[in-house]
Amino acid sequence: MRSSDRPVKQARGVAPVTLVVVVLTIVICAAGTMPTHPVQLSVPKDWPKPVYDLTRNPLTQEGIALGRKLFYDPILSKDSTISCASCHLSYTAFSHVDHRLSHGIHDSIGTRNAPALVNLAWNRSFMWDGAVNHLDMQPLAPIGHPAEMGETLPHVLFKIVQHPEYRRMFGEAFGDTMVLGDRLLKALAQFELSLVSAGSRYDSMRIGAETFTEQEMNGYRIFRAHCDACHKEPLFTTGGFANNGSPPDSILRDGGRIRITHDPGDSLKFKIPSLRNIEFSYPYMHDGRFRRLNAVITHYTDGILPSATLAPELARPIVLSPNERTDLVAFLLTLSDRDFLLNPENAAPRNY
Ligand code: HEC
Ligand code: HEC
Repeated sequence: MRSSDRPVKQARGVAPVTLVVVVLTIVICAAGTMPTHPVQLSVPKDWPKPVYDLTRNPLTQEGIALGRKLFYDPILSKDSTISCASCHLSYTAFSHVDHRLSHGIHDSIGTRNAPALVNLAWNRSFMWDGAVNHLDMQPLAPIGHPAEMGETLPHVLFKIVQHPEYRRMFGEAFGDTMVLGDRLLKALAQFELSLVSAGSRYDSMRIGAETFTEQEMNGYRIFRAHCDACHKEPLFTTGGFANNGSPPDSILRDGGRIRITHDPGDSLKFKIPSLRNIEFSYPYMHDGRFRRLNAVITHYTDGILPSATLAPELARPIVLSPNERTDLVAFLLTLSDRDFLLNPENAAPRNY
């Protein structure tokens, strides 16, 4: 307020008309540049730097609030039945529990499992095959996909601009009430970037605030021996792509990364998913083929399909005793972050 006081004082003693003009200008300027409230991602000290360039889309309370409203609003789909949250549910780390493949408008079924959305600020590429290389651009895929939201961005903007609430929120987030496509995408990205999960039992163990049981500790050792090369700590992914030996589904025939690069060396490679909150984000793999963590572990011990592109880390069989399998699962369960899953700020906004 201090800066807006000053010109009024300077105007003292001038004609009333001038004073009114000055005051009005201040009010209009103030409305045009309403202050936003910056938000810092709170992340553990030893985490790598985010990949997303936050200087080009600085997080603000207002931007995140707008992004959250958009994320939960079915107005983004053609028949206003499907929102981003229809397939990405907050209490399952923004995955779609119980659906092997995604479900979109008109009950149409997609070809892949909806991945969890956590720690996206550290992602270099998006989608199971890395089809998208920038978070801001990602929403164009589900919005335009005929089996997901079946809409176009211009038509979404046309619908949104008619809502005074949205115009107000765009104004608060971006300084004026223009409802523009890049703003919509930036706001969605801001909400998604705010979805940081770093508060699991594993994280407490890392900083020495909690200790693992013997079983969890043993599972952690097994994990480091067999899994950490790809599901690398602390994000539990390298961000890269790998063929983890999953036999391709004979109907879906999904080649993964090769679809994007057309490089035979990328055949059957999929994005290495983070394992944070893995307890809740079932079913597993790009096509949701496994419902239980035990089945995933059996895949790694008994189900690896050798092929030209199989990851070298998985070329030698992994042998685990029944006890070791239980220990490994016990470790994986330490990656659950209940504060994140139950955080009311990640759930649907109140007016929904
Ligand atoms: C009909 C279900 C469905 C809807 C609606 C949907 N998604 Fe998704 N989402 C998916 C599926 C399936 C994938 C994986 C797609 C692929 O690999 O080709 C995905 C992938 C993603 C990813 C990439 C995550 C990663 O780790 O690579 C992001 C980010 C994302 N969705 C955000 C959104 C946003 C934002 C919206 C709303 C604009 C949205 N989704 C709407 C099903 C959906
Ligand atoms: C060579 C790299 C690599 C290694 C080693 C590896 N994984 Fe994976 N993991 C992947 C890839 C790639 C996927 C996704 C595959 C797909 O979608 O078809 C995956 C998927 C998973 C999933 C499903 C995640 C989800 O959200 O659907 C779990 C759970 C998992 N791995 C656990 C493990 C465990 C436990 C180990 C050690 C025994 C391990 N992984 C070793 C690369 C690897």
